[in-house]
Order: sequence, then structure tokens, then C-alpha cells
Amino acid sequence: MKRIILFSSDLDDPAAWGEAVAARRPDLAMVDWRAIEDPEAVEFALMWKPPPGGLSAYRNLKGIQSLGAGVNQLDLTALPPGVPLARLVDASLTDTMVDYALAATLRHFRGFDRFERQTRARLWDYAPAPAKADFPVGVMGIGVLGGAVAAALRDLGFPVLGWSRTARAIEGVQCFAGTGELPDFLARCRLVINVLALTPETAGILNAGTFALMQKGSFVVNIGRGAHLVEADLIAAIEAGQIAGATLDVFSEEPLPADHPIYGRPEILVTPHVAGSIAPSSAAATVIENFERAVRGETMLNAVDLARGY
Ligand code: NAP
Ligand code: GLV
Repeated sequence: MKRIILFSSDLDDPAAWGEAVAARRPDLAMVDWRAIEDPEAVEFALMWKPPPGGLSAYRNLKGIQSLGAGVNQLDLTALPPGVPLARLVDASLTDTMVDYALAATLRHFRGFDRFERQTRARLWDYAPAPAKADFPVGVMGIGVLGGAVAAALRDLGFPVLGWSRTARAIEGVQCFAGTGELPDFLARCRLVINVLALTPETAGILNAGTFALMQKGSFVVNIGRGAHLVEADLIAAIEAGQIAGATLDVFSEEPLPADHPIYGRPEILVTPHVAGSIAPSSAAATVIENFERAVRGETMLNAVDLARGY
């Protein structure tokens, strides 16, 4: 008899995950929640969001593995009490997030966003290349993903600053911590990349107040969560010239409705929550390790501190 891992995601492929796990552990079956026959046979769950009916029927669940680095989409208040939760840390996710952050930064730094608009306007407007030394990049959230983004930008030659809740040290990155140091951090950046975890403390942190603290003509890249950004404040800051442009991967409502005013701003590039991508073949080993740990009652890799929210 195979041991059952419940799978719940409308964005990911259960068959690809099932094959990646079975290739290493043929005794484990990854079963989409719709096909579960006996809820009590489920020992572990891999999910982006819980099944519509919640998890209360899975009374033998020993652990939950988020199918993402973030966990807020699982609604921590609705999870079964006492069942531990882990977030996913994986090289494929880190690599894709770093690539996205570099692409967005270079696009704004080299003015490709402006040249795209000038192309459509049939405009030839020569400007020499800017210097990286004049373009400090700030990374909000320097955990697993933000830390890798900061290091990659540093290696490209940008001056890099980082901001986190607790004090962090990354070689070659000027690190700031806590709300008291946020204004100083923001004032030094030409471009800010948000890779924070979403918690009650960080919700709405990209707002009119924080935009006003940035240098006039700064850029914003949001690859954290949509609820980090007050979208109306960004549009107003762009209209006022305080923010010169933005690259947004995450939104308060996903999919972003076709009539949303963000689509009307030529200074904003919208991508459909694609910054980070997890390859099942890369991450299956971590999922299996956490299955083993959860059924043995041990702490999972990258266990979430539910009180802290990330
Ligand atoms: P992580 O390692 O837990 O890092 C989270 C960072 O947020 C840490 O640096 C943490 O500070 C900081 N933070 C949390 N609360 C804070 C606060 N109140 N003030 C200042 N800093 C605070 O998480 P990760 O793996 O890097 O992932 C980060 C986020 O990226 C995820 O939660 C998810 O929302 C997002 N994400 C998006 C995509 C996408 O495709 N767009 C893909 C993957 C992940 P400390 O270092 O002091 O703990
Ligand atoms: C994606 O958004 C993730 O949290 O991994």
C-alpha cells in the first residue's frame, strides 16, 4: 500500500510532482485532493492553497509543505491546529527569482523601459549609459531569496543595500534593520526590490509614505506579495513623477483584472506572478525529507514560525 501525500494547487502539475517524488520513493503517492478516496489515509500535504473544503477531514495529517517560499496564501489562521508547516526553499526557485530581479533591475538601469516607450512614439533620444555607482539598489527582505538577489546584484557591480527585521550581514551589502532604519535605507536607493515575507507588519509597506522617502525618480520592483503594495499610491507617485517606473509580478488581486488602472500606466510592467518557479525534479528531495521528518514528529526543514508569520 502506497503512502499518501495530498496535492493541492491549481497552478502546478500534480503528475509532474507525482513522478518526481515516485522516482525517488516509489512507495509514496502524490494524489490530487479531488482524487483522495480515504481522507484518513493522508499523512502529508504539498499545497499552494488548501482544498476548498479546508483540511479538517484529513485527521492523520502530520505536516504541511507549502508549494512556495511564501505561506500567507495558505491562510495560517485556517490551518489545523498542531500540524506543522514548512515553506519551500529550493535552488530552482532561488535561481529564477535572481534572474527576474536582475532582468528588472538592468531594464530600468539601462533605460530599456524608456526606450520601449520611445520606440512606440518613433522617438530617437540619445543618452549616454548611466554608471552603476550612481544606481544603488535596495533589497527589502534579505532572507533566502532577497539575500541571493542582493549578492547577485553586488556581483554585477551595483552598490547594494539590504533591509530586514533582524540585523543581517552579507558581504559587500550595506545592511539595515527594523522600522527605525527604513527611512535611511530608502533614501539611499535608486531602485527598490521587495522580497519581504507578507505579515501584518509588512502589509502595505510600499505606500505613499515610503515612496516619498525614496529619491525622486526611483524605481520599484515587487516580487514579494501583492498586499505589500498600495497600488493606488504607486499610480499616484508615478503620476507625480516621484516614482519613475515599476516592475510588478504580484498583485492584490490575481489574476489582475483587465480593467485595473495599473494596465493603463506605460511606466509599469506587469508580469503574471512568474518571478519564481519551482522545478519538481529539483525540489522533490526536500518534500520527501520533510515528509519523513513530519511523520517522525521531527522539525521540518524551513519550518514556519506561525506566531511570526513566516
Ligand atoms: P525568508 O527567507 O523567510 O525571508 C523573508 C525576509 O523578510 C527576511 O529577511 C525577513 O527578515 C524579512 N521580514 C519579515 N518581516 C519583516 C519585517 N516586519 N520587517 C523587515 N523585514 C521583515 O523568505 P524567502 O524565501 O526569501 O521569500 C520571501 C518572499 O518572497 C516569500 O514570503 C514570498 O512572499 C515571496 N516570493 C515570491 C515569489 C514570486 O514568484 N513572486 C516567489 C517566491 C517567493 P529577517 O531576515 O530579519 O527574518
Ligand atoms: C511564490 O510566490 C512563492 O511563494 O514561492
